[in-house]
Amino acid sequence: MTVASPPRILLIVGGGIAAYKALELIRLIRKAGLNVRVVLTKAAQEFVTPLSAGSLSGDKVYTDLFDLTDEAEMGHITLSRQAELVVVAPATAALMAKLATGLSDDLASTLLLATDKPVLMAPAMNVRMWHHAATQRNLETLRADGVAFVGPDEGDMACGEFGLGRMAEPEAIFAAIQEALKPKAQPLKGRHVLITAGPTFEPLDPVRGVTNRSSGKQGYAIAEAAVRAGAQVTLVSGPVNIPTPAGVERVDVETAQEMYDAVHSALPADVFIAVAAVGDWRAKEIARDKQKKGEDGELTITLVKNPDILASVGKHESLRPQLVVGFAAETRNVEVYGRTKLRTKGADVIMANDVSKDVFERDTTNMILIDESGPTNAKLLTKREAAEDLIRYIGTRIK
Ligand SMILES: Cc1cc2nc3c(=O)[nH]c(=O)nc-3n(C[C@H](O)[C@H](O)[C@H](O)COP(=O)(O)O)c2cc1C
Repeated sequence: MTVASPPRILLIVGGGIAAYKALELIRLIRKAGLNVRVVLTKAAQEFVTPLSAGSLSGDKVYTDLFDLTDEAEMGHITLSRQAELVVVAPATAALMAKLATGLSDDLASTLLLATDKPVLMAPAMNVRMWHHAATQRNLETLRADGVAFVGPDEGDMACGEFGLGRMAEPEAIFAAIQEALKPKAQPLKGRHVLITAGPTFEPLDPVRGVTNRSSGKQGYAIAEAAVRAGAQVTLVSGPVNIPTPAGVERVDVETAQEMYDAVHSALPADVFIAVAAVGDWRAKEIARDKQKKGEDGELTITLVKNPDILASVGKHESLRPQLVVGFAAETRNVEVYGRTKLRTKGADVIMANDVSKDVFERDTTNMILIDESGPTNAKLLTKREAAEDLIRYIGTRIK
Protein backbone atom coordinates (compact mmCIF):
# COMPACT_ATOMS: atom_id res chain seq x y z
CA MET A 1 0.00 0.00 0.00
CA THR A 2 2.91 2.35 -0.58
CA VAL A 3 2.39 5.35 -2.85
CA ALA A 4 4.44 4.97 -6.03
CA SER A 5 5.75 8.50 -6.52
CA PRO A 6 6.82 11.02 -3.86
CA PRO A 7 3.83 12.65 -2.17
CA ARG A 8 2.86 16.13 -3.22
CA ILE A 9 1.52 16.86 0.25
CA LEU A 10 2.82 16.09 3.71
CA LEU A 11 -0.12 16.32 6.10
CA ILE A 12 0.65 16.78 9.79
CA VAL A 13 -2.36 16.07 11.99
CA GLY A 14 -2.31 17.71 15.44
CA GLY A 15 -4.10 16.56 18.57
CA GLY A 16 -7.47 18.29 18.57
CA ILE A 17 -11.09 17.23 18.22
CA ALA A 18 -10.95 18.41 14.60
CA ALA A 19 -8.45 15.63 13.81
CA TYR A 20 -11.39 13.53 12.59
CA LYS A 21 -11.93 16.11 9.84
CA ALA A 22 -8.36 15.49 8.67
CA LEU A 23 -9.56 12.07 7.52
CA GLU A 24 -12.05 13.72 5.20
CA LEU A 25 -9.28 16.02 3.99
CA ILE A 26 -7.10 12.99 3.14
CA ARG A 27 -10.05 11.53 1.21
CA LEU A 28 -10.51 14.75 -0.77
CA ILE A 29 -6.81 14.97 -1.60
CA ARG A 30 -6.68 11.38 -2.79
CA LYS A 31 -9.92 11.76 -4.74
CA ALA A 32 -8.24 14.59 -6.67
CA GLY A 33 -5.46 12.17 -7.61
CA LEU A 34 -2.80 13.73 -5.36
CA ASN A 35 -0.51 11.70 -3.14
CA VAL A 36 -0.45 12.54 0.54
CA ARG A 37 1.80 11.29 3.31
CA VAL A 38 0.45 11.60 6.84
CA VAL A 39 2.17 12.32 10.14
CA LEU A 40 0.17 11.99 13.36
CA THR A 41 1.35 13.65 16.56
CA LYS A 42 1.17 11.62 19.75
CA ALA A 43 -1.90 13.62 20.81
CA ALA A 44 -3.50 13.19 17.38
CA GLN A 45 -3.44 9.42 17.89
CA GLU A 46 -5.85 9.93 20.79
CA PHE A 47 -8.38 11.14 18.23
CA VAL A 48 -7.63 9.18 15.05
CA THR A 49 -5.62 6.02 14.47
CA PRO A 50 -2.68 5.48 12.12
CA LEU A 51 -4.73 2.64 10.63
CA SER A 52 -7.60 4.89 9.55
CA ALA A 53 -5.25 7.63 8.25
CA GLY A 54 -3.11 5.07 6.42
CA SER A 55 -6.11 3.29 4.89
CA LEU A 56 -7.27 6.57 3.40
CA SER A 57 -3.84 7.86 2.30
CA GLY A 58 -2.73 4.51 0.92
CA ASP A 59 0.68 5.02 2.50
CA LYS A 60 2.58 4.35 5.70
CA VAL A 61 1.69 6.80 8.47
CA TYR A 62 4.57 8.34 10.42
CA THR A 63 4.34 8.96 14.15
CA ASP A 64 7.71 8.71 15.82
CA LEU A 65 10.95 10.65 15.36
CA PHE A 66 12.97 7.89 16.96
CA ASP A 67 11.57 5.00 15.01
CA LEU A 68 14.85 3.65 13.64
CA THR A 69 13.22 1.71 10.82
CA ASP A 70 11.66 4.93 9.63
CA GLU A 71 15.00 6.74 9.84
CA ALA A 72 16.70 4.04 7.79
CA GLU A 73 13.96 3.97 5.16
CA MET A 74 12.97 7.60 5.25
CA GLY A 75 15.01 10.04 7.35
CA HIS A 76 13.07 12.88 8.94
CA ILE A 77 14.88 15.43 6.76
CA THR A 78 13.89 13.57 3.59
CA LEU A 79 10.35 13.22 4.89
CA SER A 80 10.19 16.98 5.49
CA ARG A 81 11.36 17.89 2.00
CA GLN A 82 9.94 15.29 -0.35
CA ALA A 83 6.50 16.82 -0.60
CA GLU A 84 5.81 20.09 -2.38
CA LEU A 85 3.64 21.43 0.43
CA VAL A 86 3.39 20.81 4.17
CA VAL A 87 -0.15 21.09 5.55
CA VAL A 88 -0.93 21.14 9.28
CA ALA A 89 -4.58 20.29 10.00
CA PRO A 90 -5.64 20.68 12.66
CA ALA A 91 -2.86 23.05 13.71
CA THR A 92 -3.07 23.02 17.49
CA ALA A 93 -2.04 25.96 19.66
CA ALA A 94 0.91 23.79 20.67
CA LEU A 95 2.10 23.17 17.11
CA MET A 96 1.82 26.87 16.27
CA ALA A 97 3.77 27.79 19.42
CA LYS A 98 6.47 25.26 18.67
CA LEU A 99 7.05 26.44 15.12
CA ALA A 100 6.88 30.12 16.12
CA THR A 101 9.62 29.57 18.69
CA GLY A 102 11.64 27.03 16.77
CA LEU A 103 11.01 24.18 19.20
CA SER A 104 11.41 20.70 17.73
CA ASP A 105 10.74 17.99 20.28
CA ASP A 106 8.80 15.41 18.28
CA LEU A 107 8.41 14.24 14.70
CA ALA A 108 5.81 16.85 13.65
CA SER A 109 7.65 19.88 15.06
CA THR A 110 11.02 18.63 13.78
CA LEU A 111 9.60 18.22 10.27
CA LEU A 112 8.14 21.72 10.40
CA LEU A 113 11.51 23.16 11.35
CA ALA A 114 13.46 21.07 8.84
CA THR A 115 11.31 21.61 5.79
CA ASP A 116 12.24 23.93 2.95
CA LYS A 117 8.74 23.73 1.48
CA PRO A 118 5.80 26.10 1.95
CA VAL A 119 3.68 25.46 5.05
CA LEU A 120 -0.11 25.85 5.22
CA MET A 121 -1.78 25.72 8.64
CA ALA A 122 -5.44 25.18 9.46
CA PRO A 123 -5.69 26.20 13.13
CA ALA A 124 -8.30 24.64 15.39
CA MET A 125 -8.74 25.39 19.07
CA ASN A 126 -11.01 26.74 21.75
CA VAL A 127 -12.00 30.38 21.17
CA ARG A 128 -10.11 31.59 24.26
CA MET A 129 -7.01 29.70 23.24
CA TRP A 130 -7.24 31.33 19.79
CA HIS A 131 -7.66 34.85 21.17
CA HIS A 132 -4.96 34.41 23.81
CA ALA A 133 -2.20 37.00 23.34
CA ALA A 134 0.39 34.21 23.09
CA THR A 135 -1.43 32.47 20.21
CA GLN A 136 -1.97 35.77 18.41
CA ARG A 137 1.72 36.59 18.83
CA ASN A 138 2.63 33.20 17.42
CA LEU A 139 0.25 33.74 14.52
CA GLU A 140 1.98 37.03 13.66
CA THR A 141 5.41 35.45 13.90
CA LEU A 142 4.40 32.55 11.69
CA ARG A 143 2.82 34.86 9.12
CA ALA A 144 6.02 36.93 9.04
CA ASP A 145 7.96 33.71 8.51
CA GLY A 146 5.86 32.99 5.43
CA VAL A 147 3.44 30.39 6.83
CA ALA A 148 0.03 30.53 5.10
CA PHE A 149 -3.23 30.08 7.02
CA VAL A 150 -6.70 28.85 6.20
CA GLY A 151 -9.34 29.57 8.86
CA PRO A 152 -10.14 29.28 11.65
CA ASP A 153 -13.90 29.72 11.24
CA GLU A 154 -16.43 31.04 13.68
CA GLY A 155 -19.07 28.71 15.09
CA ASP A 156 -20.14 26.33 17.81
CA MET A 157 -17.29 24.45 19.36
CA ALA A 158 -17.04 20.92 20.67
CA CYS A 159 -16.41 22.43 24.12
CA GLY A 160 -19.83 24.16 24.07
CA GLU A 161 -18.51 27.68 23.49
CA PHE A 162 -19.04 29.82 20.42
CA GLY A 163 -16.54 31.91 18.45
CA LEU A 164 -13.44 31.82 16.29
CA GLY A 165 -11.40 28.66 16.54
CA ARG A 166 -13.24 25.99 14.54
CA MET A 167 -11.03 24.39 11.93
CA ALA A 168 -11.88 25.41 8.36
CA GLU A 169 -13.95 22.77 6.59
CA PRO A 170 -11.96 20.12 4.69
CA GLU A 171 -13.27 21.52 1.37
CA ALA A 172 -11.91 24.97 2.23
CA ILE A 173 -8.54 23.51 3.29
CA PHE A 174 -8.41 21.51 0.09
CA ALA A 175 -9.12 24.67 -1.95
CA ALA A 176 -6.23 26.40 -0.12
CA ILE A 177 -4.00 23.42 -0.92
CA GLN A 178 -4.87 23.64 -4.62
CA GLU A 179 -4.10 27.34 -4.57
CA ALA A 180 -0.76 26.73 -2.87
CA LEU A 181 0.18 24.06 -5.40
CA LYS A 182 -0.60 26.25 -8.41
CA PRO A 183 2.52 27.12 -10.36
CA LYS A 184 3.56 30.64 -9.45
CA ALA A 185 3.95 33.42 -11.99
CA GLN A 186 7.38 33.28 -13.61
CA PRO A 187 8.19 36.85 -14.67
CA LEU A 188 11.70 35.89 -15.84
CA LYS A 189 10.73 32.81 -17.84
CA GLY A 190 13.03 32.36 -20.81
CA ARG A 191 15.38 35.15 -19.64
CA HIS A 192 19.09 34.69 -19.14
CA VAL A 193 20.16 36.15 -15.81
CA LEU A 194 23.89 36.43 -15.21
CA ILE A 195 24.96 36.84 -11.58
CA THR A 196 28.32 37.19 -9.85
CA ALA A 197 28.69 36.22 -6.21
CA GLY A 198 31.19 35.79 -3.42
CA PRO A 199 34.65 37.28 -2.97
CA THR A 200 37.60 37.25 -5.31
CA PHE A 201 41.01 35.94 -4.30
CA GLU A 202 44.15 37.59 -5.60
CA PRO A 203 47.27 35.49 -5.03
CA LEU A 204 50.43 37.09 -3.66
CA ASP A 205 52.49 33.93 -3.75
CA PRO A 206 51.65 30.21 -4.08
CA VAL A 207 50.09 30.06 -0.60
CA ARG A 208 48.86 33.56 0.27
CA GLY A 209 46.48 36.03 -1.22
CA VAL A 210 44.23 39.03 -0.77
CA THR A 211 40.50 38.41 -0.41
CA ASN A 212 37.52 39.88 1.44
CA ARG A 213 34.74 38.82 3.79
CA SER A 214 31.96 38.24 1.26
CA SER A 215 30.20 34.93 2.03
CA GLY A 216 28.32 34.70 -1.27
CA LYS A 217 25.00 34.22 0.57
CA GLN A 218 23.29 37.21 -1.05
CA GLY A 219 24.30 36.32 -4.61
CA TYR A 220 23.32 32.69 -4.15
CA ALA A 221 19.93 33.70 -2.70
CA ILE A 222 19.37 35.91 -5.76
CA ALA A 223 20.33 33.04 -8.07
CA GLU A 224 17.78 30.80 -6.31
CA ALA A 225 15.07 33.46 -6.54
CA ALA A 226 15.82 34.01 -10.24
CA VAL A 227 15.45 30.27 -10.92
CA ARG A 228 12.11 30.30 -9.09
CA ALA A 229 11.09 33.21 -11.34
CA GLY A 230 11.78 31.00 -14.36
CA ALA A 231 15.15 32.42 -15.44
CA GLN A 232 18.05 30.55 -16.94
CA VAL A 233 20.75 31.46 -14.44
CA THR A 234 24.52 31.59 -14.86
CA LEU A 235 26.29 32.17 -11.55
CA VAL A 236 29.93 33.23 -11.74
CA SER A 237 31.17 32.52 -8.26
CA GLY A 238 34.28 33.39 -6.29
CA PRO A 239 35.49 30.88 -3.67
CA VAL A 240 32.58 30.23 -1.27
CA ASN A 241 31.28 27.42 0.85
CA ILE A 242 27.73 27.19 -0.47
CA PRO A 243 26.17 24.38 -2.49
CA THR A 244 25.09 25.22 -6.03
CA PRO A 245 21.37 25.99 -6.08
CA ALA A 246 19.28 23.60 -8.16
CA GLY A 247 18.87 24.69 -11.76
CA VAL A 248 21.83 27.09 -11.70
CA GLU A 249 24.82 26.85 -14.02
CA ARG A 250 27.80 27.73 -11.85
CA VAL A 251 31.19 28.87 -13.11
CA ASP A 252 33.89 28.90 -10.43
CA VAL A 253 36.59 31.54 -10.54
CA GLU A 254 39.19 32.95 -8.16
CA THR A 255 40.58 36.24 -9.36
CA ALA A 256 38.84 39.39 -10.58
CA GLN A 257 40.34 38.88 -14.04
CA GLU A 258 38.93 35.33 -14.17
CA MET A 259 35.56 36.67 -13.06
CA TYR A 260 35.71 39.36 -15.76
CA ASP A 261 36.52 36.76 -18.41
CA ALA A 262 33.81 34.35 -17.23
CA VAL A 263 31.19 37.12 -17.20
CA HIS A 264 32.09 38.27 -20.69
CA SER A 265 32.03 34.70 -22.04
CA ALA A 266 28.56 34.22 -20.50
CA LEU A 267 27.12 37.25 -22.35
CA PRO A 268 24.64 37.89 -23.89
CA ALA A 269 22.23 38.07 -20.97
CA ASP A 270 18.95 39.86 -20.36
CA VAL A 271 19.92 40.83 -16.84
CA PHE A 272 23.29 41.21 -15.17
CA ILE A 273 23.44 41.31 -11.36
CA ALA A 274 26.90 42.06 -10.01
CA VAL A 275 26.74 40.93 -6.40
CA ALA A 276 30.33 39.69 -6.00
CA ALA A 277 32.71 41.66 -3.86
CA VAL A 278 35.40 42.04 -6.49
CA GLY A 279 38.86 42.98 -5.29
CA ASP A 280 39.85 46.37 -6.72
CA TRP A 281 43.54 45.49 -6.69
CA ARG A 282 45.86 42.61 -7.43
CA ALA A 283 49.56 42.10 -6.93
CA LYS A 284 51.58 43.44 -9.86
CA GLU A 285 53.75 40.39 -9.61
CA ILE A 286 52.87 37.08 -8.01
CA ALA A 287 55.92 35.63 -6.28
CA ARG A 288 56.87 32.28 -7.71
CA ASP A 289 57.84 30.92 -4.29
CA LYS A 290 56.43 31.43 -0.84
CA GLN A 291 57.63 34.76 0.51
CA LYS A 292 60.03 34.38 3.43
CA LYS A 293 59.71 36.47 6.58
CA GLY A 294 63.08 38.14 6.02
CA GLU A 295 65.01 40.22 8.52
CA ASP A 296 63.80 43.79 8.12
CA GLY A 297 60.14 43.20 9.19
CA GLU A 298 58.65 44.88 6.12
CA LEU A 299 57.36 43.67 2.79
CA THR A 300 56.29 45.99 0.01
CA ILE A 301 53.75 44.71 -2.49
CA THR A 302 52.86 46.76 -5.54
CA LEU A 303 49.21 46.51 -6.46
CA VAL A 304 47.63 47.25 -9.80
CA LYS A 305 44.00 47.89 -10.58
CA ASN A 306 41.67 45.07 -11.57
CA PRO A 307 39.24 45.49 -14.46
CA ASP A 308 35.87 46.95 -13.49
CA ILE A 309 33.40 44.16 -14.26
CA LEU A 310 30.22 46.11 -13.55
CA ALA A 311 31.25 49.10 -15.70
CA SER A 312 32.48 46.84 -18.49
CA VAL A 313 29.03 45.25 -18.74
CA GLY A 314 27.05 48.42 -17.97
CA LYS A 315 28.84 50.26 -20.79
CA HIS A 316 29.19 47.34 -23.19
CA GLU A 317 28.75 48.64 -26.72
CA SER A 318 27.02 45.66 -28.28
CA LEU A 319 26.06 43.21 -25.53
CA ARG A 320 24.75 45.44 -22.75
CA PRO A 321 21.97 43.51 -20.97
CA GLN A 322 18.55 45.09 -20.77
CA LEU A 323 18.98 45.60 -17.04
CA VAL A 324 22.26 46.00 -15.16
CA VAL A 325 22.21 45.81 -11.37
CA GLY A 326 25.22 46.61 -9.23
CA PHE A 327 25.81 46.19 -5.52
CA ALA A 328 27.56 48.81 -3.44
CA ALA A 329 28.93 47.66 -0.12
CA GLU A 330 29.91 50.74 1.85
CA THR A 331 30.83 51.48 5.41
CA ARG A 332 29.70 55.14 5.26
CA ASN A 333 27.75 57.57 3.03
CA VAL A 334 25.92 54.55 1.62
CA GLU A 335 23.35 56.47 -0.41
CA VAL A 336 25.80 59.05 -1.83
CA TYR A 337 28.26 56.37 -2.96
CA GLY A 338 25.37 54.29 -4.30
CA ARG A 339 24.12 57.17 -6.46
CA THR A 340 27.63 57.88 -7.73
CA LYS A 341 28.06 54.22 -8.67
CA LEU A 342 24.77 54.28 -10.58
CA ARG A 343 26.11 57.09 -12.75
CA THR A 344 29.68 56.03 -13.23
CA LYS A 345 29.15 52.31 -13.90
CA GLY A 346 26.38 52.53 -16.46
CA ALA A 347 24.07 50.58 -14.14
CA ASP A 348 20.27 50.84 -14.03
CA VAL A 349 20.00 49.90 -10.39
CA ILE A 350 22.33 49.93 -7.42
CA MET A 351 21.60 47.90 -4.31
CA ALA A 352 23.50 49.82 -1.66
CA ASN A 353 24.10 48.40 1.75
CA ASP A 354 25.92 49.35 4.89
CA VAL A 355 28.50 46.67 5.57
CA SER A 356 29.91 48.35 8.64
CA LYS A 357 27.75 46.06 10.77
CA ASP A 358 28.89 42.54 9.90
CA VAL A 359 26.54 42.09 6.93
CA PHE A 360 28.98 39.73 5.25
CA GLU A 361 28.56 36.66 7.42
CA ARG A 362 24.99 37.37 8.49
CA ASP A 363 21.70 36.17 7.05
CA THR A 364 20.17 39.64 7.18
CA THR A 365 20.87 42.77 5.19
CA ASN A 366 19.84 46.41 5.28
CA MET A 367 19.69 47.48 1.65
CA ILE A 368 18.40 50.43 -0.29
CA LEU A 369 17.52 50.13 -3.95
CA ILE A 370 18.61 53.15 -5.99
CA ASP A 371 17.35 53.63 -9.54
CA GLU A 372 16.68 56.66 -11.74
CA SER A 373 13.63 57.52 -9.63
CA GLY A 374 15.67 57.68 -6.43
CA PRO A 375 16.31 55.48 -3.42
CA THR A 376 13.87 53.30 -1.49
CA ASN A 377 13.95 53.27 2.29
CA ALA A 378 16.35 50.86 3.89
CA LYS A 379 14.67 47.89 5.53
CA LEU A 380 16.12 45.01 7.44
CA LEU A 381 15.43 41.81 5.53
CA THR A 382 16.81 38.33 5.40
CA LYS A 383 19.04 37.88 2.37
CA ARG A 384 16.40 35.54 0.94
CA GLU A 385 13.69 38.18 1.33
CA ALA A 386 15.95 40.83 -0.21
CA ALA A 387 16.59 38.44 -3.12
CA GLU A 388 12.86 37.87 -3.66
CA ASP A 389 12.24 41.64 -3.54
CA LEU A 390 14.96 42.33 -6.10
CA ILE A 391 13.80 39.62 -8.49
CA ARG A 392 10.20 40.86 -8.20
CA TYR A 393 11.44 44.37 -9.02
CA ILE A 394 13.48 43.08 -11.98
CA GLY A 395 10.37 41.27 -13.25
CA THR A 396 8.55 44.61 -13.41
CA ARG A 397 11.43 46.26 -15.32
CA ILE A 398 12.08 43.63 -17.97
CA LYS A 399 10.24 44.11 -21.24
C1 LIG B 1 -10.33 16.31 24.25
C2 LIG B 1 -9.24 17.27 23.89
C3 LIG B 1 -9.41 18.12 22.85
C4 LIG B 1 -8.41 19.03 22.48
N1 LIG B 1 -8.58 19.86 21.44
C5 LIG B 1 -7.64 20.75 21.11
C6 LIG B 1 -7.83 21.65 20.02
O1 LIG B 1 -8.83 21.63 19.33
N2 LIG B 1 -6.83 22.53 19.75
C7 LIG B 1 -5.69 22.59 20.47
O2 LIG B 1 -4.85 23.43 20.18
N3 LIG B 1 -5.48 21.74 21.50
C8 LIG B 1 -6.41 20.83 21.84
N4 LIG B 1 -6.22 19.97 22.88
C9 LIG B 1 -4.94 20.02 23.59
C10 LIG B 1 -3.88 19.32 22.79
O3 LIG B 1 -4.22 17.97 22.56
C11 LIG B 1 -2.55 19.40 23.54
O4 LIG B 1 -2.12 20.76 23.59
C12 LIG B 1 -1.49 18.54 22.90
O5 LIG B 1 -0.28 18.70 23.63
C13 LIG B 1 -1.25 18.96 21.46
O6 LIG B 1 -0.21 18.20 20.91
P1 LIG B 1 0.16 18.29 19.39
O7 LIG B 1 0.15 19.71 19.02
O8 LIG B 1 1.52 17.68 19.31
O9 LIG B 1 -0.82 17.48 18.64
C14 LIG B 1 -7.21 19.05 23.25
C15 LIG B 1 -7.05 18.16 24.28
C16 LIG B 1 -8.04 17.28 24.60
C17 LIG B 1 -7.83 16.32 25.76
